[in-house]
Amino acid sequence: MTETGGIFRVTDTNSRGYGIIKDNEKIIFAAGAVEGDVCRIEITGEEKNYLTARITDLIEPSPYRVNPDCPYYGECGGCSLRHAAYETEGEIKKRVVSSAFRRFGINAKIGNVLCPSPDFYRNKVSFKVDGPRVGFYRKETNDVVPLDRAPCKTAPAHFSQIANETAATLCSLNINAEEIAIRSSVSGDLSAVISLKGMPDSIAELNRFRENVSSLSVRDTLSKKNVRLFGDGGIRTEAFGLSLFVSDDSFFQVNYEGAEILFRVVSSLFDDMNFDLCADLFCGTGVWGLALAKRFPDKRFYGIDLNKSAINDAIRNAERNGIKNIKFYCGDAAMKTEEGIPSAVIVDPPRAGLHPSMIDVLKDLSPDYLVYISCNPFTLARDAAKMVEFGYRIKCIAPVNLFPRTEHVETVVLMSRGG
Ligand SMILES: C[S@@+](CC[C@H](N)C(=O)[O-])C[C@H]1O[C@@H](n2cnc3c(N)ncnc32)[C@H](O)[C@@H]1O
Repeated sequence: MTETGGIFRVTDTNSRGYGIIKDNEKIIFAAGAVEGDVCRIEITGEEKNYLTARITDLIEPSPYRVNPDCPYYGECGGCSLRHAAYETEGEIKKRVVSSAFRRFGINAKIGNVLCPSPDFYRNKVSFKVDGPRVGFYRKETNDVVPLDRAPCKTAPAHFSQIANETAATLCSLNINAEEIAIRSSVSGDLSAVISLKGMPDSIAELNRFRENVSSLSVRDTLSKKNVRLFGDGGIRTEAFGLSLFVSDDSFFQVNYEGAEILFRVVSSLFDDMNFDLCADLFCGTGVWGLALAKRFPDKRFYGIDLNKSAINDAIRNAERNGIKNIKFYCGDAAMKTEEGIPSAVIVDPPRAGLHPSMIDVLKDLSPDYLVYISCNPFTLARDAAKMVEFGYRIKCIAPVNLFPRTEHVETVVLMSRGG
Protein backbone atom coordinates (compact mmCIF):
# COMPACT_ATOMS: atom_id res chain seq x y z
CA MET A 1 0.00 0.00 0.00
CA THR A 2 1.20 3.56 -0.75
CA GLU A 3 2.68 5.17 2.28
CA THR A 4 0.25 7.36 4.20
CA GLY A 5 1.51 10.92 4.52
CA GLY A 6 3.01 11.21 1.01
CA ILE A 7 2.78 14.51 -0.90
CA PHE A 8 1.09 14.31 -4.31
CA ARG A 9 -0.08 16.48 -7.19
CA VAL A 10 -3.66 15.76 -8.27
CA THR A 11 -3.77 15.35 -12.05
CA ASP A 12 -7.47 14.81 -12.78
CA THR A 13 -10.90 14.93 -11.12
CA ASN A 14 -13.81 12.54 -11.49
CA SER A 15 -17.44 13.63 -11.41
CA ARG A 16 -17.92 12.12 -7.95
CA GLY A 17 -15.62 14.81 -6.60
CA TYR A 18 -12.46 12.73 -6.13
CA GLY A 19 -9.09 14.05 -7.20
CA ILE A 20 -7.10 11.46 -9.13
CA ILE A 21 -3.46 10.81 -8.28
CA LYS A 22 -1.24 8.48 -10.26
CA ASP A 23 1.35 6.85 -8.03
CA ASN A 24 3.49 4.38 -10.05
CA GLU A 25 1.08 1.60 -10.98
CA LYS A 26 -1.61 2.66 -8.52
CA ILE A 27 -4.45 5.12 -8.96
CA ILE A 28 -5.48 6.99 -5.83
CA PHE A 29 -8.90 8.64 -5.51
CA ALA A 30 -8.60 11.47 -2.98
CA ALA A 31 -11.94 12.68 -1.60
CA GLY A 32 -12.52 16.42 -1.95
CA ALA A 33 -9.38 16.98 -4.05
CA VAL A 34 -9.39 18.72 -7.41
CA GLU A 35 -6.92 18.65 -10.31
CA GLY A 36 -3.97 20.96 -9.59
CA ASP A 37 -4.04 20.47 -5.80
CA VAL A 38 -0.75 19.54 -4.16
CA CYS A 39 -1.60 17.75 -0.96
CA ARG A 40 -0.52 15.35 1.70
CA ILE A 41 -2.95 12.43 1.87
CA GLU A 42 -3.87 9.56 4.11
CA ILE A 43 -4.90 6.28 2.51
CA THR A 44 -8.39 5.30 3.70
CA GLY A 45 -8.98 2.12 1.69
CA GLU A 46 -7.48 -0.34 -0.77
CA GLU A 47 -9.35 -2.04 -3.60
CA LYS A 48 -7.88 -4.37 -6.23
CA ASN A 49 -7.06 -1.65 -8.76
CA TYR A 50 -7.06 1.56 -6.75
CA LEU A 51 -6.66 3.21 -3.39
CA THR A 52 -8.90 5.76 -1.70
CA ALA A 53 -7.55 8.62 0.37
CA ARG A 54 -8.40 11.81 2.18
CA ILE A 55 -6.46 15.07 2.22
CA THR A 56 -4.65 15.69 5.51
CA ASP A 57 -2.81 18.82 4.41
CA LEU A 58 -3.60 21.00 1.39
CA ILE A 59 -0.11 22.28 0.62
CA GLU A 60 -0.84 24.15 -2.61
CA PRO A 61 -4.52 24.64 -3.45
CA SER A 62 -5.41 24.27 -7.12
CA PRO A 63 -6.37 27.40 -9.09
CA TYR A 64 -9.51 25.38 -10.00
CA ARG A 65 -10.53 25.01 -6.36
CA VAL A 66 -13.36 27.16 -4.93
CA ASN A 67 -15.05 27.49 -1.56
CA PRO A 68 -17.92 24.93 -1.59
CA ASP A 69 -20.28 27.52 -0.12
CA CYS A 70 -22.61 24.96 1.47
CA PRO A 71 -22.49 23.87 5.13
CA TYR A 72 -23.52 20.30 4.26
CA TYR A 73 -20.95 19.76 1.52
CA GLY A 74 -18.96 16.55 1.90
CA GLU A 75 -21.57 15.18 4.29
CA CYS A 76 -24.69 15.27 2.12
CA GLY A 77 -24.84 12.84 -0.81
CA GLY A 78 -26.34 15.41 -3.19
CA CYS A 79 -23.54 17.55 -4.63
CA SER A 80 -20.05 16.31 -5.47
CA LEU A 81 -18.36 19.14 -7.38
CA ARG A 82 -18.92 22.26 -5.26
CA HIS A 83 -15.20 22.47 -4.49
CA ALA A 84 -14.34 22.87 -8.21
CA ALA A 85 -14.81 26.10 -10.20
CA TYR A 86 -17.98 25.87 -12.29
CA GLU A 87 -15.98 26.11 -15.58
CA THR A 88 -13.79 23.23 -14.35
CA GLU A 89 -16.95 21.22 -13.62
CA GLY A 90 -17.86 21.60 -17.31
CA GLU A 91 -14.40 20.31 -18.30
CA ILE A 92 -14.65 17.39 -15.87
CA LYS A 93 -18.05 16.36 -17.22
CA LYS A 94 -16.83 16.62 -20.81
CA ARG A 95 -14.01 14.21 -19.91
CA VAL A 96 -16.53 11.87 -18.24
CA VAL A 97 -18.58 11.71 -21.44
CA SER A 98 -15.46 11.34 -23.58
CA SER A 99 -14.03 8.49 -21.52
CA ALA A 100 -17.39 6.65 -21.53
CA PHE A 101 -17.40 6.71 -25.35
CA ARG A 102 -13.72 5.74 -25.61
CA ARG A 103 -14.39 2.81 -23.30
CA PHE A 104 -16.78 1.49 -25.96
CA GLY A 105 -14.32 2.17 -28.79
CA ILE A 106 -15.84 5.48 -29.98
CA ASN A 107 -13.39 8.37 -30.39
CA ALA A 108 -15.90 10.98 -31.56
CA LYS A 109 -15.58 14.71 -30.87
CA ILE A 110 -17.46 15.77 -27.74
CA GLY A 111 -19.04 19.24 -27.65
CA ASN A 112 -18.28 21.62 -24.79
CA VAL A 113 -20.67 21.11 -21.88
CA LEU A 114 -23.45 23.71 -22.04
CA CYS A 115 -23.92 25.13 -18.57
CA PRO A 116 -27.00 26.83 -17.10
CA SER A 117 -26.92 28.71 -13.75
CA PRO A 118 -25.12 26.64 -11.11
CA ASP A 119 -27.48 27.23 -8.15
CA PHE A 120 -31.19 27.29 -7.22
CA TYR A 121 -32.03 25.39 -10.40
CA ARG A 122 -34.15 22.45 -9.27
CA ASN A 123 -37.91 22.69 -9.87
CA LYS A 124 -38.52 19.45 -7.97
CA VAL A 125 -37.00 18.23 -4.74
CA SER A 126 -37.83 15.06 -2.78
CA PHE A 127 -36.87 15.78 0.83
CA LYS A 128 -36.34 12.90 3.26
CA VAL A 129 -38.11 13.50 6.55
CA ASP A 130 -36.22 13.12 9.81
CA GLY A 131 -38.55 14.05 12.69
CA PRO A 132 -39.31 17.80 12.56
CA ARG A 133 -36.63 18.38 9.90
CA VAL A 134 -36.05 17.43 6.30
CA GLY A 135 -32.79 16.69 4.54
CA PHE A 136 -30.95 14.39 2.16
CA TYR A 137 -29.17 11.10 2.61
CA ARG A 138 -25.62 11.25 3.91
CA LYS A 139 -23.16 9.98 1.27
CA GLU A 140 -23.62 6.23 0.67
CA THR A 141 -26.01 5.79 3.64
CA ASN A 142 -29.72 6.09 4.42
CA ASP A 143 -29.08 8.49 7.33
CA VAL A 144 -30.54 11.92 6.81
CA VAL A 145 -28.37 15.05 6.96
CA PRO A 146 -30.96 17.57 8.22
CA LEU A 147 -31.23 20.97 6.55
CA ASP A 148 -30.95 22.82 9.85
CA ARG A 149 -28.29 25.41 9.09
CA ALA A 150 -29.17 26.77 5.65
CA PRO A 151 -31.43 25.90 2.72
CA CYS A 152 -30.23 23.50 0.03
CA LYS A 153 -28.62 25.59 -2.74
CA THR A 154 -29.71 23.37 -5.62
CA ALA A 155 -33.31 24.65 -5.32
CA PRO A 156 -34.95 27.99 -4.47
CA ALA A 157 -34.53 28.61 -0.72
CA HIS A 158 -38.27 28.53 0.02
CA PHE A 159 -38.39 24.81 -0.96
CA SER A 160 -36.27 23.91 2.10
CA GLN A 161 -38.23 26.32 4.29
CA ILE A 162 -41.65 24.97 3.28
CA ALA A 163 -40.46 21.37 3.59
CA ASN A 164 -39.02 22.02 7.08
CA GLU A 165 -42.22 23.79 8.20
CA THR A 166 -44.32 20.94 6.83
CA ALA A 167 -42.16 18.32 8.61
CA ALA A 168 -42.40 20.23 11.90
CA THR A 169 -46.21 20.45 11.60
CA LEU A 170 -46.50 16.75 10.69
CA CYS A 171 -44.34 15.92 13.71
CA SER A 172 -46.55 18.01 16.01
CA LEU A 173 -49.59 16.09 14.64
CA ASN A 174 -47.79 12.79 15.35
CA ILE A 175 -47.79 11.95 11.65
CA ASN A 176 -44.66 10.07 10.61
CA ALA A 177 -43.86 11.12 7.07
CA GLU A 178 -41.09 9.55 4.98
CA GLU A 179 -40.72 12.06 2.20
CA ILE A 180 -42.03 15.46 1.13
CA ALA A 181 -41.75 16.09 -2.62
CA ILE A 182 -42.26 19.64 -3.89
CA ARG A 183 -42.46 20.64 -7.54
CA SER A 184 -42.71 24.20 -8.84
CA SER A 185 -44.04 25.68 -12.05
CA VAL A 186 -41.94 28.29 -13.87
CA SER A 187 -44.06 30.99 -12.25
CA GLY A 188 -43.64 29.50 -8.75
CA ASP A 189 -46.91 27.57 -8.12
CA LEU A 190 -46.13 24.58 -5.93
CA SER A 191 -47.50 21.07 -5.81
CA ALA A 192 -46.50 18.76 -2.95
CA VAL A 193 -46.79 15.06 -2.20
CA ILE A 194 -46.29 13.75 1.33
CA SER A 195 -45.35 10.06 1.49
CA LEU A 196 -46.34 8.18 4.63
CA LYS A 197 -46.44 4.59 5.85
CA GLY A 198 -50.21 4.14 6.40
CA MET A 199 -52.94 6.76 6.02
CA PRO A 200 -53.37 8.79 9.24
CA ASP A 201 -56.88 9.44 10.71
CA SER A 202 -55.95 13.07 11.11
CA ILE A 203 -55.35 13.49 7.38
CA ALA A 204 -57.85 16.40 7.15
CA GLU A 205 -55.47 18.41 9.35
CA LEU A 206 -53.15 18.61 6.36
CA ASN A 207 -55.56 21.02 4.67
CA ARG A 208 -53.76 23.72 6.65
CA PHE A 209 -50.92 23.52 4.08
CA ARG A 210 -53.12 25.39 1.59
CA GLU A 211 -51.22 28.49 2.58
CA ASN A 212 -47.92 27.00 1.37
CA VAL A 213 -48.77 25.03 -1.76
CA SER A 214 -51.53 25.10 -4.37
CA SER A 215 -51.88 21.31 -4.57
CA LEU A 216 -51.31 18.63 -1.93
CA SER A 217 -51.59 14.86 -2.09
CA VAL A 218 -50.79 12.18 0.43
CA ARG A 219 -49.36 8.83 -0.63
CA ASP A 220 -49.49 5.72 1.51
CA THR A 221 -46.36 3.82 0.51
CA LEU A 222 -47.74 0.58 2.05
CA SER A 223 -51.13 0.39 0.28
CA LYS A 224 -49.96 2.61 -2.65
CA LYS A 225 -53.17 4.60 -2.04
CA ASN A 226 -53.12 8.27 -3.03
CA VAL A 227 -55.42 10.89 -1.51
CA ARG A 228 -55.59 14.31 -3.06
CA LEU A 229 -56.40 16.87 -0.34
CA PHE A 230 -56.65 19.94 -2.55
CA GLY A 231 -55.47 21.34 -5.89
CA ASP A 232 -54.95 19.71 -9.29
CA GLY A 233 -52.44 17.01 -8.32
CA GLY A 234 -49.73 18.65 -10.39
CA ILE A 235 -48.55 21.95 -11.82
CA ARG A 236 -49.39 24.06 -14.82
CA THR A 237 -46.24 25.43 -16.31
CA GLU A 238 -44.69 26.92 -19.42
CA ALA A 239 -41.72 25.31 -21.13
CA PHE A 240 -40.38 24.84 -24.68
CA GLY A 241 -42.96 27.35 -25.97
CA LEU A 242 -45.76 25.14 -24.63
CA SER A 243 -48.36 25.46 -21.93
CA LEU A 244 -48.13 22.21 -19.96
CA PHE A 245 -49.78 20.30 -17.14
CA VAL A 246 -47.49 17.92 -15.28
CA SER A 247 -49.05 15.48 -12.79
CA ASP A 248 -47.23 14.72 -9.56
CA ASP A 249 -46.64 11.16 -10.82
CA SER A 250 -45.16 12.18 -14.17
CA PHE A 251 -41.50 12.67 -14.94
CA PHE A 252 -40.45 16.20 -15.82
CA GLN A 253 -36.99 17.69 -16.40
CA VAL A 254 -35.86 19.10 -13.03
CA ASN A 255 -34.03 22.16 -14.35
CA TYR A 256 -36.16 24.58 -16.42
CA GLU A 257 -33.23 26.68 -17.69
CA GLY A 258 -31.13 23.57 -18.41
CA ALA A 259 -34.06 21.83 -20.14
CA GLU A 260 -34.57 24.83 -22.44
CA ILE A 261 -30.89 24.55 -23.45
CA LEU A 262 -31.34 20.81 -23.92
CA PHE A 263 -34.39 21.38 -26.09
CA ARG A 264 -32.55 23.95 -28.23
CA VAL A 265 -29.86 21.31 -28.85
CA VAL A 266 -32.44 18.62 -29.70
CA SER A 267 -34.43 20.98 -31.93
CA SER A 268 -31.30 22.14 -33.78
CA LEU A 269 -30.57 18.52 -34.75
CA PHE A 270 -33.83 18.55 -36.72
CA ASP A 271 -32.83 21.69 -38.71
CA ASP A 272 -31.52 19.74 -41.68
CA MET A 273 -33.27 16.46 -41.06
CA ASN A 274 -35.27 14.92 -43.85
CA PHE A 275 -38.04 13.03 -42.04
CA ASP A 276 -41.80 12.52 -42.28
CA LEU A 277 -42.63 10.52 -39.15
CA CYS A 278 -40.83 10.90 -35.81
CA ALA A 279 -41.21 8.61 -32.79
CA ASP A 280 -40.64 10.12 -29.32
CA LEU A 281 -39.93 7.02 -27.22
CA PHE A 282 -39.84 7.25 -23.40
CA CYS A 283 -41.76 10.50 -24.01
CA GLY A 284 -43.00 11.26 -20.46
CA THR A 285 -45.48 14.16 -20.69
CA GLY A 286 -44.62 14.38 -24.39
CA VAL A 287 -42.46 17.50 -24.26
CA TRP A 288 -39.90 16.75 -27.01
CA GLY A 289 -42.49 15.39 -29.45
CA LEU A 290 -44.97 18.19 -28.72
CA ALA A 291 -42.45 21.03 -29.10
CA LEU A 292 -41.15 19.49 -32.35
CA ALA A 293 -44.67 18.79 -33.64
CA LYS A 294 -45.45 22.47 -33.07
CA ARG A 295 -42.27 23.43 -34.95
CA PHE A 296 -42.96 21.02 -37.85
CA PRO A 297 -46.78 21.11 -38.38
CA ASP A 298 -46.54 19.21 -41.69
CA LYS A 299 -44.71 16.19 -40.15
CA ARG A 300 -46.24 13.43 -38.06
CA PHE A 301 -45.14 12.47 -34.55
CA TYR A 302 -46.03 9.85 -31.97
CA GLY A 303 -44.93 9.32 -28.40
CA ILE A 304 -44.81 6.24 -26.15
CA ASP A 305 -44.36 6.02 -22.39
CA LEU A 306 -45.06 3.31 -19.83
CA ASN A 307 -46.45 5.75 -17.28
CA LYS A 308 -50.22 6.22 -17.68
CA SER A 309 -50.26 9.52 -15.81
CA ALA A 310 -47.53 10.94 -18.08
CA ILE A 311 -49.42 9.82 -21.22
CA ASN A 312 -52.67 11.36 -19.92
CA ASP A 313 -50.74 14.59 -19.38
CA ALA A 314 -49.23 14.33 -22.88
CA ILE A 315 -52.68 13.91 -24.49
CA ARG A 316 -54.07 16.87 -22.52
CA ASN A 317 -50.95 18.90 -23.35
CA ALA A 318 -51.46 18.28 -27.09
CA GLU A 319 -55.08 19.50 -26.77
CA ARG A 320 -54.12 22.46 -24.59
CA ASN A 321 -51.62 23.63 -27.24
CA GLY A 322 -53.82 22.82 -30.24
CA ILE A 323 -51.22 20.36 -31.60
CA LYS A 324 -52.91 17.84 -33.88
CA ASN A 325 -49.99 16.12 -35.64
CA ILE A 326 -49.02 13.93 -32.67
CA LYS A 327 -50.48 10.79 -31.06
CA PHE A 328 -49.58 9.18 -27.77
CA TYR A 329 -49.51 5.54 -26.68
CA CYS A 330 -49.20 4.12 -23.19
CA GLY A 331 -46.99 1.03 -23.19
CA ASP A 332 -43.47 -0.27 -23.51
CA ALA A 333 -41.30 1.81 -25.82
CA ALA A 334 -40.71 -1.35 -27.86
CA MET A 335 -44.45 -1.73 -28.66
CA LYS A 336 -45.72 -1.77 -32.24
CA THR A 337 -48.08 1.05 -33.21
CA GLU A 338 -50.28 1.68 -36.23
CA GLU A 339 -48.22 4.77 -37.14
CA GLY A 340 -45.86 3.08 -39.61
CA ILE A 341 -42.06 3.14 -39.74
CA PRO A 342 -40.54 6.36 -38.32
CA SER A 343 -37.69 7.97 -40.23
CA ALA A 344 -36.53 9.74 -37.05
CA VAL A 345 -36.58 8.34 -33.52
CA ILE A 346 -35.91 10.10 -30.22
CA VAL A 347 -35.11 7.89 -27.22
CA ASP A 348 -34.87 9.36 -23.71
CA PRO A 349 -34.70 6.32 -21.43
CA PRO A 350 -34.04 6.13 -17.66
CA ARG A 351 -30.43 5.74 -16.40
CA ALA A 352 -30.28 2.02 -17.21
CA GLY A 353 -30.39 2.88 -20.91
CA LEU A 354 -31.97 0.71 -23.58
CA HIS A 355 -32.91 -2.89 -22.90
CA PRO A 356 -31.36 -5.28 -25.48
CA SER A 357 -34.89 -5.92 -26.83
CA MET A 358 -35.28 -2.17 -27.44
CA ILE A 359 -31.95 -2.12 -29.28
CA ASP A 360 -33.32 -4.96 -31.47
CA VAL A 361 -36.47 -2.92 -32.15
CA LEU A 362 -34.36 0.08 -33.20
CA LYS A 363 -32.29 -2.20 -35.43
CA ASP A 364 -35.51 -3.45 -37.08
CA LEU A 365 -37.09 0.02 -37.37
CA SER A 366 -33.79 1.22 -38.81
CA PRO A 367 -34.69 4.95 -38.74
CA ASP A 368 -32.54 7.34 -40.78
CA TYR A 369 -31.90 9.40 -37.64
CA LEU A 370 -31.66 8.44 -34.00
CA VAL A 371 -31.55 11.14 -31.32
CA TYR A 372 -30.52 9.64 -27.99
CA ILE A 373 -30.97 11.77 -24.83
CA SER A 374 -29.43 10.30 -21.70
CA CYS A 375 -28.54 11.13 -18.11
CA ASN A 376 -26.01 8.27 -17.97
CA PRO A 377 -22.91 8.57 -20.23
CA PHE A 378 -21.97 4.92 -19.62
CA THR A 379 -25.24 3.34 -20.82
CA LEU A 380 -25.49 5.94 -23.57
CA ALA A 381 -22.03 5.04 -24.92
CA ARG A 382 -22.77 1.30 -24.57
CA ASP A 383 -26.01 1.62 -26.58
CA ALA A 384 -24.48 4.01 -29.13
CA ALA A 385 -21.68 1.48 -29.74
CA LYS A 386 -24.35 -1.14 -30.55
CA MET A 387 -25.98 1.21 -33.05
CA VAL A 388 -22.55 1.88 -34.61
CA GLU A 389 -22.19 -1.91 -35.03
CA PHE A 390 -25.47 -1.81 -37.00
CA GLY A 391 -24.05 0.81 -39.38
CA TYR A 392 -25.02 4.09 -37.65
CA ARG A 393 -22.63 7.01 -37.57
CA ILE A 394 -22.28 9.40 -34.69
CA LYS A 395 -22.87 12.92 -35.97
CA CYS A 396 -22.88 14.90 -32.74
CA ILE A 397 -22.35 14.43 -28.99
CA ALA A 398 -23.60 17.40 -26.97
CA PRO A 399 -23.43 17.32 -23.15
CA VAL A 400 -25.63 19.68 -21.11
CA ASN A 401 -25.03 20.34 -17.41
CA LEU A 402 -28.63 19.73 -16.32
CA PHE A 403 -27.58 18.95 -12.75
CA PRO A 404 -24.91 21.51 -11.77
CA ARG A 405 -22.67 20.76 -8.78
CA THR A 406 -23.66 17.06 -8.79
CA GLU A 407 -21.94 14.16 -10.52
CA HIS A 408 -24.62 13.94 -13.20
CA VAL A 409 -24.57 15.13 -16.79
CA GLU A 410 -27.15 14.90 -19.59
CA THR A 411 -25.98 14.16 -23.12
CA VAL A 412 -27.66 14.33 -26.51
CA VAL A 413 -26.31 12.19 -29.35
CA LEU A 414 -27.37 12.31 -32.98
CA MET A 415 -26.76 9.17 -35.00
CA SER A 416 -27.61 8.65 -38.61
CA ARG A 417 -27.76 5.62 -40.83
CA GLY A 418 -25.30 5.76 -43.67
CA GLY A 419 -23.79 9.23 -44.31
C1 LIG B 1 -35.80 10.26 -18.49
S1 LIG B 1 -37.55 10.22 -18.55
C2 LIG B 1 -37.82 11.13 -20.04
C3 LIG B 1 -39.22 11.67 -20.24
C4 LIG B 1 -39.40 12.74 -21.28
N1 LIG B 1 -38.73 12.43 -22.52
C5 LIG B 1 -39.00 14.11 -20.78
O1 LIG B 1 -37.91 14.60 -21.15
O2 LIG B 1 -39.76 14.72 -20.03
C6 LIG B 1 -37.80 8.54 -18.95
C7 LIG B 1 -39.23 8.14 -19.19
O3 LIG B 1 -39.21 6.76 -19.58
C8 LIG B 1 -40.40 6.16 -19.13
N2 LIG B 1 -40.16 4.70 -19.21
C9 LIG B 1 -39.39 3.91 -18.41
N3 LIG B 1 -39.34 2.65 -18.88
C10 LIG B 1 -40.08 2.64 -20.02
C11 LIG B 1 -40.40 1.63 -20.99
N4 LIG B 1 -39.95 0.37 -20.87
N5 LIG B 1 -41.17 1.96 -22.03
C12 LIG B 1 -41.66 3.22 -22.17
N6 LIG B 1 -41.39 4.22 -21.29
C13 LIG B 1 -40.62 3.93 -20.23
C14 LIG B 1 -40.63 6.77 -17.77
O4 LIG B 1 -41.99 6.67 -17.40
C15 LIG B 1 -40.18 8.21 -18.00
O5 LIG B 1 -41.28 9.03 -18.35
